[in-house]
Amino acid sequence: MKATYYGQSCLELEINGIKILFDPFITPNELAKNVDVNSLKPDFILLSHGHGDHVADLLTVQKNSGAKVICIAEIAGWLGTQNVTNVHAMNIGGAFNFEFGRVKMVNAVHSSTMPDGSSGGNPAGFVIYAEGKKIYFAGDTALTYDMKLLEDENLDWAILPIGDNYTMGVDDAIKSTSFFNCKNVIGVHYDSFPVIKIDKNEAMEKFIKAGLVLKLPAIGETITL
Ligand code: NI
Ligand code: MN
Repeated sequence: MKATYYGQSCLELEINGIKILFDPFITPNELAKNVDVNSLKPDFILLSHGHGDHVADLLTVQKNSGAKVICIAEIAGWLGTQNVTNVHAMNIGGAFNFEFGRVKMVNAVHSSTMPDGSSGGNPAGFVIYAEGKKIYFAGDTALTYDMKLLEDENLDWAILPIGDNYTMGVDDAIKSTSFFNCKNVIGVHYDSFPVIKIDKNEAMEKFIKAGLVLKLPAIGETITL
């Protein structure tokens, strides 16, 4: 399994040749100016919630690729009003087997409104079960005891927000890993705006001190999970 980072919470997993893109936000992100949004051709798009820094390029990428969008029911309804028909609606606590693996939608503590003010329903995270691995994409979330529900999952990787202000910061992200027993973290949702700028060296040191692995891939970098 491979993961390519595109900035903020936008990341693409490649699972057995199938591409799954999370939370497309590229063109408004100055840090991702070298990424050509039109080069992205995912097979699936997973959305954690409706905020602009997660859906800004959703319609462009979906139109270019024809990707199936997996999201909560309210965002699925909104996509219908945007003439996007290749949509799979889910809700919190439900799981479904797709051709690349199983996806479970889990709770996130945050808010969710579409850029035009429509309801985005509740914010969500996902657990992906594929290639014998378990990956947790937390979405935008606070530290929450609901994460304890994942403690028996033996997660291989957790993709966690670490930028603070809108989501967990580094310290809460570290604490969250003890709730779900996962040593390997990819940090996202930092540096894109002034209020979520972090000291990456300090973050690395804190994770190492906690006995954890923190990966902060460069934008455009691909890592193997
Ligand atoms: Ni958000
Ligand atoms: Mn966000």
